[in-house]
Amino acid sequence: MLSVAVVGSGPSGVYTAQALLQQSLVPDVRVHVLDRLPTPYGLVRYGVAPDHEKIKSLQNSLRAVLEDERVTFVGNVGVGGPDGVSPARLAELYHAVVYCVGASADRALAVPGEGLPGSYSATRFVSWYSAHPDIGADPFARDALEARSAVVIGVGNVAVDVARILARGAGELRRTDVPRAALRALEESRVREVHIVGRRGPSQARFTTRELRELGALPGARVVVDPTELALDPAYAAPDGLPGALPLPAVVRRNLEVLRGWSVGGGAGAAGDMPGGAPGSADAVRRIRLRFFLRPVELLERGGRVAGVRFARTAPDEAGGVRDTGRYEDVEAQLVLRAVGYRGVELPGLPFDPVRGTVPHAAGRVLRGGVPSPGEYVAGWIKRGPTGVIGSNRSCAKETVASLLADAAALTRRTAADDPLAVLREWGLRPVEWAGWLSIERAEAELGRSLGRGPVKIPDWAGLLAAARDENG
Ligand SMILES: Cc1cc2nc3c(=O)[nH]c(=O)nc-3n(C[C@H](O)[C@H](O)[C@H](O)COP(=O)(O)OP(=O)(O)OC[C@H]3O[C@@H](n4cnc5c(N)ncnc54)[C@H](O)[C@@H]3O)c2cc1C
Ligand SMILES: NC(=O)c1ccc[n+]([C@@H]2O[C@H](COP(=O)([O-])OP(=O)(O)OC[C@H]3O[C@@H](n4cnc5c(N)ncnc54)[C@H](OP(=O)(O)O)[C@@H]3O)[C@@H](O)[C@H]2O)c1
Repeated sequence: MLSVAVVGSGPSGVYTAQALLQQSLVPDVRVHVLDRLPTPYGLVRYGVAPDHEKIKSLQNSLRAVLEDERVTFVGNVGVGGPDGVSPARLAELYHAVVYCVGASADRALAVPGEGLPGSYSATRFVSWYSAHPDIGADPFARDALEARSAVVIGVGNVAVDVARILARGAGELRRTDVPRAALRALEESRVREVHIVGRRGPSQARFTTRELRELGALPGARVVVDPTELALDPAYAAPDGLPGALPLPAVVRRNLEVLRGWSVGGGAGAAGDMPGGAPGSADAVRRIRLRFFLRPVELLERGGRVAGVRFARTAPDEAGGVRDTGRYEDVEAQLVLRAVGYRGVELPGLPFDPVRGTVPHAAGRVLRGGVPSPGEYVAGWIKRGPTGVIGSNRSCAKETVASLLADAAALTRRTAADDPLAVLREWGLRPVEWAGWLSIERAEAELGRSLGRGPVKIPDWAGLLAAARDENG
């Protein structure tokens, strides 16, 4: 029998468990999926936007894996943290451990003013509206949404998510599982302008077309683009390809088509600020301005809070990047969200590459001093870095499991605990098992019913743990 611990119950952890169940090389496997949270699914629960119900429903297929009789969910057990279990001790309990801990930190802009009140990472904002229990009582509810104008820095899918949540009427969010405090704050939000700003051109934006189009379909909001800004991008001007250059990727072509459609009829500032082709209802109260070729250089301050962002105007260079033009533009904003990527966090006791923010590995085998460390593996964002959609983690996990299975003969000669959960309890940990999670689900459904809504997320540790312990509730 091969006994495996998977650390992290996000997509990469669950796909790792699934790949272990679906193989036939080692028929007798037992998989414990540990998570520091009492709740499973990682960013599918705490990242995927609440209004993306279809993607959220992927939880159902992840759930089927965690409910397999060969799999045990072990929530509320952190690995490598002060209150958790160290990688060295965990290795005593299982033949192999696969680390699937994601990339939970944010990247900084490293510009003056970044620490001003009113300036946050999108990571934090996402965690807030997703009810991540680490966020706790948060300033968003109190003051950030008093802003009239918000700047979102970055043009990836996370930038589009946070801009959409800011621009979407809270009425529509009522049907989602957004926690009460966040819903209230979004209901009271005075944000009317949301600027999404890229430092390069539209052909280099990282958002996908579906997500981009969705901005144009928001009731109560209008998208504004500036055709002269778009035209600065050589690929926009020549969508069929520049002489001697490779054809544009399909996603870029589609994005440019959408932007072109929106730009018809004038630029930002023209025609009453609403270019003719821009979508959105006539009575739109919010505007989403998509801006390009603006590199943030400083967050501006007034009265001790953020008041705007100073951007350097850039222009395309010959190498696919941009150069500064020596010109600047200030954009007013009382709320600034930087959506410039996530970052892996070092897990004490595991090797870490601080530049890439990942664990060094060879085909999923953790490398210590450049050599594979027996019984230690890695998958998902902590292996590849913070890019890729949910499905990308499936092939990533498969590669790791193939390496693990190739090592299986040696691994099963190592010792493993008969009952790792009993040992974890002896060590003072208080695992939340599947029944505890189901109990949290019931409590969230009950909370929602009492509010006349569907399930509503419990946003704090105490509430989650109380619900988990109330297994008969
Ligand atoms: C805001 C946001 C929205 C997204 N929306 C979409 C979308 O709509 N569609 C899509 O396809 N992709 C989306 N993605 C991408 C997708 O979420 C990721 O590809 C995927 O979640 C990465 O999976 P992972 O398992 O590596 O990490 P995660 O999902 O982050 O899972 C890591 C898990 O490890 C646990 N963990 C961390 N540290 C420890 C520890 N020390 N001990 C124990 N457990 C630990 C965490 O609690 C977490 O449950 C989104 C990403 C973000 C950031
Ligand atoms: N609906 C979905 O499917 C969905 C939703 C959310 C997230 N995701 C996925 O999750 C992954 C992470 O998304 P993400 O948006 O965090 O990352 P991302 O796709 O890497 O986008 C990051 C953005 O930040 C910009 N940026 C980085 N550093 C900057 C700086 N110093 N100043 C200004 N801009 C800067 C980047 O611009 P440059 O290109 O110029 O570096 C880029 O536009 C992606 O694979 C994404 O597709 C998917």
